[in-house]
Amino acid sequence: MEKINAIITGVGGYVPDYILTNEELSRMVDTTDEWIMERVGIKERRILTEEGLGTSYMARKAAKQLLEKTGADPDSIDALIVTTTTPDYKFPSTASIVIGKLGLKNAFGFDFSAACCGFLYSLDVASTMIQSGRYKRIIVIAADKMSSVVDYTDRQTCVLFGDGAAAVLVEGTTEENVGVQDSFLRTDGKGLPFLHMKAGGSVCPASQFTVDRRLHYLYQEGRTVFKYAVTSMSSDIMEILKRNNLSGDDVAWVVPHEANLRIIEAVAKRANVPLEKVIINIQHYGNTSAATIPLALWDEEAKLKKGDNLIFTAFGAGFVHGASYYKWVYDGASATAKK
Ligand code: UT7
Repeated sequence: MEKINAIITGVGGYVPDYILTNEELSRMVDTTDEWIMERVGIKERRILTEEGLGTSYMARKAAKQLLEKTGADPDSIDALIVTTTTPDYKFPSTASIVIGKLGLKNAFGFDFSAACCGFLYSLDVASTMIQSGRYKRIIVIAADKMSSVVDYTDRQTCVLFGDGAAAVLVEGTTEENVGVQDSFLRTDGKGLPFLHMKAGGSVCPASQFTVDRRLHYLYQEGRTVFKYAVTSMSSDIMEILKRNNLSGDDVAWVVPHEANLRIIEAVAKRANVPLEKVIINIQHYGNTSAATIPLALWDEEAKLKKGDNLIFTAFGAGFVHGASYYKWVYDGASATAKK
Protein backbone atom coordinates (compact mmCIF):
# COMPACT_ATOMS: atom_id res chain seq x y z
CA MET A 1 0.00 0.00 0.00
CA GLU A 2 1.23 3.50 -0.82
CA LYS A 3 2.11 5.62 2.19
CA ILE A 4 -0.74 7.93 3.16
CA ASN A 5 0.02 11.35 4.58
CA ALA A 6 -2.52 13.17 6.76
CA ILE A 7 -3.23 16.73 5.66
CA ILE A 8 -5.39 19.57 6.91
CA THR A 9 -7.66 20.60 4.04
CA GLY A 10 -9.59 23.39 5.77
CA VAL A 11 -10.07 25.37 8.96
CA GLY A 12 -13.28 26.68 10.53
CA GLY A 13 -13.64 28.77 13.63
CA TYR A 14 -16.05 30.43 15.98
CA VAL A 15 -15.68 32.96 18.77
CA PRO A 16 -18.65 34.35 20.72
CA ASP A 17 -19.69 37.95 20.10
CA TYR A 18 -19.32 39.19 23.67
CA ILE A 19 -15.98 40.94 24.25
CA LEU A 20 -14.73 41.03 27.83
CA THR A 21 -12.21 43.86 27.99
CA ASN A 22 -9.51 44.62 30.55
CA GLU A 23 -11.50 47.71 31.49
CA GLU A 24 -14.52 45.61 32.39
CA LEU A 25 -12.36 43.14 34.34
CA SER A 26 -10.80 45.99 36.29
CA ARG A 27 -14.29 46.86 37.52
CA MET A 28 -14.82 43.24 38.65
CA VAL A 29 -11.47 42.54 40.42
CA ASP A 30 -8.44 44.49 41.61
CA THR A 31 -6.54 44.64 38.31
CA THR A 32 -5.64 47.10 35.57
CA ASP A 33 -5.22 47.13 31.82
CA GLU A 34 -1.56 48.07 32.38
CA TRP A 35 -0.87 45.02 34.58
CA ILE A 36 -2.60 42.61 32.22
CA MET A 37 -0.91 44.02 29.11
CA GLU A 38 2.52 44.10 30.73
CA ARG A 39 2.40 40.70 32.45
CA VAL A 40 0.20 38.69 30.06
CA GLY A 41 -0.41 40.63 26.80
CA ILE A 42 -4.18 40.10 26.61
CA LYS A 43 -6.40 43.04 25.67
CA GLU A 44 -9.73 41.27 25.40
CA ARG A 45 -11.31 37.83 25.29
CA ARG A 46 -14.59 36.43 23.94
CA ILE A 47 -17.18 35.01 26.34
CA LEU A 48 -20.17 32.80 25.57
CA THR A 49 -22.74 34.59 27.70
CA GLU A 50 -25.99 33.06 26.45
CA GLU A 51 -27.54 30.85 29.08
CA GLY A 52 -27.87 27.18 28.21
CA LEU A 53 -25.10 27.16 25.63
CA GLY A 54 -21.92 25.18 26.19
CA THR A 55 -18.80 24.04 24.38
CA SER A 56 -20.75 21.98 21.84
CA TYR A 57 -22.44 25.14 20.57
CA MET A 58 -19.12 26.72 19.64
CA ALA A 59 -17.74 23.40 18.37
CA ARG A 60 -20.68 22.91 16.06
CA LYS A 61 -20.46 26.49 14.72
CA ALA A 62 -16.77 25.97 13.92
CA ALA A 63 -17.44 22.58 12.28
CA LYS A 64 -20.35 23.98 10.27
CA GLN A 65 -18.16 26.73 8.88
CA LEU A 66 -15.50 24.12 8.11
CA LEU A 67 -17.97 22.02 6.12
CA GLU A 68 -19.17 25.10 4.23
CA LYS A 69 -15.66 26.31 3.44
CA THR A 70 -14.36 22.93 2.29
CA GLY A 71 -17.57 21.80 0.61
CA ALA A 72 -17.11 18.40 2.28
CA ASP A 73 -20.21 16.20 2.20
CA PRO A 74 -21.34 15.65 5.83
CA ASP A 75 -22.09 12.00 4.94
CA SER A 76 -18.43 11.51 4.00
CA ILE A 77 -17.13 12.27 7.51
CA ASP A 78 -15.86 9.08 9.17
CA ALA A 79 -15.01 10.44 12.61
CA LEU A 80 -15.25 13.57 14.72
CA ILE A 81 -13.00 14.31 17.67
CA VAL A 82 -13.75 17.08 20.16
CA THR A 83 -10.81 17.98 22.32
CA THR A 84 -11.90 19.96 25.35
CA THR A 85 -11.46 20.45 29.08
CA THR A 86 -14.92 21.93 29.39
CA PRO A 87 -17.33 19.35 27.92
CA ASP A 88 -21.05 20.13 27.93
CA TYR A 89 -21.62 17.24 30.35
CA LYS A 90 -19.57 14.53 32.02
CA PHE A 91 -21.51 12.25 29.72
CA PRO A 92 -22.49 11.88 26.98
CA SER A 93 -19.50 13.12 25.05
CA THR A 94 -19.54 16.58 23.52
CA ALA A 95 -18.60 14.90 20.23
CA SER A 96 -21.86 12.92 20.29
CA ILE A 97 -23.84 16.14 20.74
CA VAL A 98 -21.98 17.85 17.88
CA ILE A 99 -22.46 14.84 15.58
CA GLY A 100 -26.19 14.87 16.34
CA LYS A 101 -26.56 18.59 15.70
CA LEU A 102 -24.55 18.45 12.48
CA GLY A 103 -26.48 15.39 11.30
CA LEU A 104 -23.38 13.34 10.46
CA LYS A 105 -24.82 9.94 9.55
CA ASN A 106 -21.64 7.94 9.02
CA ALA A 107 -19.34 9.24 11.73
CA PHE A 108 -18.30 8.01 15.14
CA GLY A 109 -17.01 10.50 17.67
CA PHE A 110 -15.26 10.85 20.98
CA ASP A 111 -13.94 13.49 23.34
CA PHE A 112 -10.23 13.84 23.88
CA SER A 113 -8.83 15.28 27.07
CA ALA A 114 -5.37 16.83 26.93
CA ALA A 115 -5.95 20.34 28.29
CA CYS A 116 -4.06 22.97 26.28
CA CYS A 117 -2.30 20.24 24.25
CA GLY A 118 -5.63 18.92 22.99
CA PHE A 119 -5.16 20.05 19.41
CA LEU A 120 -1.57 18.89 19.17
CA TYR A 121 -2.38 15.43 20.53
CA SER A 122 -5.67 14.92 18.67
CA LEU A 123 -4.18 16.01 15.35
CA ASP A 124 -1.60 13.27 15.82
CA VAL A 125 -4.30 10.72 16.68
CA ALA A 126 -6.39 11.74 13.66
CA SER A 127 -3.29 11.65 11.49
CA THR A 128 -2.52 8.08 12.60
CA MET A 129 -6.12 7.06 11.91
CA ILE A 130 -5.87 8.52 8.40
CA GLN A 131 -2.47 6.90 7.77
CA SER A 132 -3.95 3.51 8.70
CA GLY A 133 -6.16 3.76 5.62
CA ARG A 134 -9.32 2.88 7.58
CA TYR A 135 -10.62 6.46 7.75
CA LYS A 136 -10.72 9.04 4.98
CA ARG A 137 -12.10 12.18 6.59
CA ILE A 138 -11.91 13.24 10.20
CA ILE A 139 -13.04 16.49 11.78
CA VAL A 140 -10.89 17.57 14.74
CA ILE A 141 -12.49 20.28 16.86
CA ALA A 142 -10.71 22.06 19.68
CA ALA A 143 -13.22 23.93 21.80
CA ASP A 144 -13.28 25.33 25.29
CA LYS A 145 -15.71 27.43 27.28
CA MET A 146 -13.12 28.45 29.85
CA SER A 147 -15.50 31.02 31.32
CA SER A 148 -17.45 28.06 32.75
CA VAL A 149 -14.52 27.12 35.02
CA VAL A 150 -13.01 30.53 35.73
CA ASP A 151 -13.60 32.26 39.06
CA TYR A 152 -14.41 35.88 38.22
CA THR A 153 -13.49 36.92 41.76
CA ASP A 154 -9.90 35.63 41.38
CA ARG A 155 -7.71 38.20 39.64
CA GLN A 156 -4.85 35.71 39.22
CA THR A 157 -6.80 33.59 36.75
CA CYS A 158 -9.86 35.46 35.50
CA VAL A 159 -7.86 37.82 33.28
CA LEU A 160 -6.22 34.94 31.41
CA PHE A 161 -8.92 32.91 29.72
CA GLY A 162 -11.50 33.18 26.96
CA ASP A 163 -13.96 31.02 25.02
CA GLY A 164 -13.62 29.79 21.45
CA ALA A 165 -13.57 26.86 19.04
CA ALA A 166 -11.82 25.89 15.84
CA ALA A 167 -12.09 22.86 13.61
CA VAL A 168 -9.88 21.28 10.97
CA LEU A 169 -10.66 18.68 8.34
CA VAL A 170 -8.01 15.95 8.21
CA GLU A 171 -7.81 13.88 5.04
CA GLY A 172 -5.32 11.56 3.37
CA THR A 173 -3.09 11.98 0.35
CA THR A 174 -0.42 9.87 -1.31
CA GLU A 175 1.51 13.02 -2.17
CA GLU A 176 4.89 12.80 -0.45
CA ASN A 177 6.32 15.13 2.20
CA VAL A 178 3.13 17.02 3.03
CA GLY A 179 0.89 17.34 6.07
CA VAL A 180 1.80 15.93 9.48
CA GLN A 181 5.51 15.13 9.22
CA ASP A 182 6.52 14.42 12.80
CA SER A 183 5.27 14.79 16.36
CA PHE A 184 7.16 14.85 19.62
CA LEU A 185 4.55 14.49 22.37
CA ARG A 186 5.08 14.00 26.08
CA THR A 187 3.07 13.83 29.33
CA ASP A 188 5.20 14.08 32.46
CA GLY A 189 2.56 13.70 35.17
CA LYS A 190 4.14 16.29 37.44
CA GLY A 191 1.54 18.97 36.90
CA LEU A 192 -1.41 18.02 39.11
CA PRO A 193 -0.54 20.22 42.13
CA PHE A 194 -0.02 23.29 39.97
CA LEU A 195 -2.98 23.31 37.60
CA HIS A 196 -6.28 21.55 38.22
CA MET A 197 -9.90 21.79 39.29
CA LYS A 198 -10.32 20.52 42.83
CA ALA A 199 -13.88 19.18 42.72
CA GLY A 200 -16.42 17.74 40.35
CA GLY A 201 -14.46 14.63 39.41
CA SER A 202 -14.58 11.14 40.94
CA VAL A 203 -12.08 12.01 43.71
CA CYS A 204 -14.21 14.83 45.03
CA PRO A 205 -17.70 14.80 43.52
CA ALA A 206 -19.87 17.91 43.59
CA SER A 207 -21.59 18.59 46.91
CA GLN A 208 -22.80 21.52 48.95
CA PHE A 209 -19.38 21.48 50.62
CA THR A 210 -17.49 21.83 47.32
CA VAL A 211 -19.79 24.56 46.06
CA ASP A 212 -19.55 26.53 49.30
CA ARG A 213 -15.74 26.40 49.12
CA ARG A 214 -15.61 27.43 45.46
CA LEU A 215 -13.84 24.24 44.44
CA HIS A 216 -15.32 24.06 40.94
CA TYR A 217 -12.99 26.63 39.48
CA LEU A 218 -9.62 26.37 37.78
CA TYR A 219 -6.72 26.50 40.23
CA GLN A 220 -3.29 27.52 39.00
CA GLU A 221 0.09 28.28 40.52
CA GLY A 222 1.02 30.63 37.74
CA ARG A 223 4.73 31.12 38.34
CA THR A 224 5.52 27.40 38.38
CA VAL A 225 3.39 26.72 35.33
CA PHE A 226 5.08 29.63 33.54
CA LYS A 227 8.55 28.16 34.09
CA TYR A 228 7.60 24.66 32.96
CA ALA A 229 5.80 26.07 29.91
CA VAL A 230 8.83 28.05 28.72
CA THR A 231 11.29 25.20 29.32
CA SER A 232 9.11 22.51 27.75
CA MET A 233 7.88 24.32 24.65
CA SER A 234 11.30 25.69 23.74
CA SER A 235 13.05 22.34 24.14
CA ASP A 236 10.22 20.56 22.28
CA ILE A 237 10.63 22.95 19.33
CA MET A 238 14.38 22.39 19.32
CA GLU A 239 13.89 18.62 19.44
CA ILE A 240 11.48 18.58 16.50
CA LEU A 241 13.74 20.87 14.45
CA LYS A 242 16.78 18.75 15.22
CA ARG A 243 15.30 15.40 14.37
CA ASN A 244 13.92 16.74 11.08
CA ASN A 245 17.18 18.51 10.16
CA LEU A 246 15.46 21.89 10.14
CA SER A 247 16.82 25.24 11.23
CA GLY A 248 14.84 28.34 12.17
CA ASP A 249 15.34 29.56 8.57
CA ASP A 250 13.41 26.57 7.19
CA VAL A 251 10.36 27.37 9.30
CA ALA A 252 7.66 29.64 7.89
CA TRP A 253 5.55 29.85 11.05
CA VAL A 254 5.61 28.69 14.63
CA VAL A 255 2.08 28.37 15.98
CA PRO A 256 2.30 28.06 19.77
CA HIS A 257 -0.30 27.53 22.43
CA GLU A 258 -1.10 31.02 23.71
CA ALA A 259 -1.30 31.41 27.48
CA ASN A 260 0.87 34.45 28.01
CA LEU A 261 2.69 36.70 25.53
CA ARG A 262 5.78 36.61 27.76
CA ILE A 263 5.84 32.81 27.54
CA ILE A 264 5.64 32.98 23.74
CA GLU A 265 8.43 35.57 23.56
CA ALA A 266 10.67 33.55 25.88
CA VAL A 267 10.03 30.33 23.92
CA ALA A 268 10.81 32.00 20.58
CA LYS A 269 14.02 33.45 21.98
CA ARG A 270 15.22 30.17 23.48
CA ALA A 271 14.32 28.18 20.36
CA ASN A 272 16.06 30.79 18.21
CA VAL A 273 12.99 31.59 16.10
CA PRO A 274 12.38 35.27 15.24
CA LEU A 275 9.16 36.60 16.75
CA GLU A 276 8.01 37.74 13.27
CA LYS A 277 7.64 34.05 12.42
CA VAL A 278 5.34 33.35 15.37
CA ILE A 279 1.58 33.55 14.85
CA ILE A 280 0.08 35.39 17.82
CA ASN A 281 -3.52 36.46 18.49
CA ILE A 282 -3.61 36.21 22.29
CA GLN A 283 -4.37 39.93 22.55
CA HIS A 284 -7.86 39.31 21.11
CA TYR A 285 -8.88 35.93 22.52
CA GLY A 286 -6.79 35.22 25.63
CA ASN A 287 -6.07 31.60 26.50
CA THR A 288 -8.80 29.47 24.92
CA SER A 289 -7.02 26.28 26.08
CA ALA A 290 -7.18 23.56 23.39
CA ALA A 291 -8.46 26.04 20.82
CA THR A 292 -5.54 28.50 20.71
CA ILE A 293 -3.53 26.79 17.95
CA PRO A 294 -6.36 26.10 15.46
CA LEU A 295 -7.92 29.51 16.24
CA ALA A 296 -4.61 31.09 15.24
CA LEU A 297 -4.62 29.04 12.00
CA TRP A 298 -8.19 30.21 11.37
CA ASP A 299 -7.46 33.85 12.16
CA GLU A 300 -4.28 34.01 10.09
CA GLU A 301 -5.18 31.48 7.40
CA ALA A 302 -4.57 34.09 4.68
CA LYS A 303 -0.87 34.17 5.60
CA LEU A 304 -0.38 30.43 5.11
CA LYS A 305 1.01 29.26 1.78
CA LYS A 306 1.30 25.84 0.19
CA GLY A 307 4.62 24.31 1.20
CA ASP A 308 5.05 26.37 4.38
CA ASN A 309 6.78 24.51 7.20
CA LEU A 310 4.79 25.00 10.40
CA ILE A 311 5.81 24.08 13.92
CA PHE A 312 3.02 23.64 16.48
CA THR A 313 3.89 23.57 20.16
CA ALA A 314 1.80 23.47 23.32
CA PHE A 315 1.93 23.02 27.06
CA GLY A 316 -0.81 22.47 29.61
CA ALA A 317 -2.25 20.81 32.70
CA GLY A 318 -0.81 17.40 33.47
CA PHE A 319 1.77 18.47 32.46
CA VAL A 320 1.22 17.77 28.78
CA HIS A 321 3.55 19.20 26.17
CA GLY A 322 5.06 18.70 22.76
CA ALA A 323 5.71 20.01 19.29
CA SER A 324 4.89 18.86 15.79
CA TYR A 325 6.15 19.57 12.32
CA TYR A 326 3.48 20.15 9.68
CA LYS A 327 3.81 21.06 5.99
CA TRP A 328 0.87 23.21 4.88
CA VAL A 329 -0.89 22.11 1.66
CA TYR A 330 -2.98 25.00 0.34
CA ASP A 331 -2.89 28.75 -0.14
CA GLY A 332 -4.84 30.14 2.79
CA ALA A 333 -5.70 33.41 1.07
CA SER A 334 -8.16 31.71 -1.30
CA ALA A 335 -9.78 29.77 1.57
CA THR A 336 -10.36 32.85 3.73
CA ALA A 337 -12.55 34.34 1.02
CA LYS A 338 -15.12 31.72 2.07
CA LYS A 339 -14.98 32.66 5.77
O1 UT7 B 1 -2.53 27.33 29.39
C1 UT7 B 1 -2.18 26.59 30.53
C2 UT7 B 1 -0.88 26.96 31.02
N1 UT7 B 1 -0.95 28.21 31.73
C3 UT7 B 1 0.05 29.07 31.65
O2 UT7 B 1 0.98 28.84 30.89
C4 UT7 B 1 0.05 30.29 32.55
C5 UT7 B 1 1.42 30.50 33.16
N2 UT7 B 1 1.51 31.57 34.13
C6 UT7 B 1 1.40 32.89 33.80
O3 UT7 B 1 1.11 33.24 32.67
C7 UT7 B 1 1.73 33.91 34.84
O4 UT7 B 1 2.39 33.31 35.93
C8 UT7 B 1 0.50 34.70 35.38
C9 UT7 B 1 -0.04 35.61 34.30
C10 UT7 B 1 -0.56 33.72 35.83
C11 UT7 B 1 0.92 35.57 36.56
O5 UT7 B 1 1.97 36.45 36.17
P1 UT7 B 1 3.28 36.58 37.06
O6 UT7 B 1 4.12 37.59 36.44
O7 UT7 B 1 3.85 35.19 37.22
O8 UT7 B 1 2.71 37.16 38.41
P2 UT7 B 1 2.79 36.55 39.87
O9 UT7 B 1 1.87 35.39 40.01
O10 UT7 B 1 4.23 36.35 40.21
O11 UT7 B 1 2.23 37.77 40.72
C12 UT7 B 1 2.94 39.01 40.80
C13 UT7 B 1 2.05 39.99 41.52
C14 UT7 B 1 1.42 39.43 42.81
O12 UT7 B 1 1.36 40.45 43.75
P3 UT7 B 1 2.46 40.54 44.91
O13 UT7 B 1 2.33 39.27 45.68
O14 UT7 B 1 3.78 40.68 44.22
O15 UT7 B 1 2.03 41.76 45.67
C15 UT7 B 1 0.03 39.08 42.37
O16 UT7 B 1 -0.89 39.11 43.44
O17 UT7 B 1 0.96 40.36 40.68
C16 UT7 B 1 -0.26 40.19 41.39
N3 UT7 B 1 -1.32 39.86 40.44
C17 UT7 B 1 -2.05 40.80 39.84
N4 UT7 B 1 -2.05 42.15 39.93
C18 UT7 B 1 -2.93 42.81 39.16
C19 UT7 B 1 -1.69 38.64 40.02
N5 UT7 B 1 -2.69 38.78 39.14
C20 UT7 B 1 -2.93 40.10 39.02
C21 UT7 B 1 -3.84 40.86 38.26
N6 UT7 B 1 -3.81 42.20 38.35
N7 UT7 B 1 -4.73 40.28 37.40
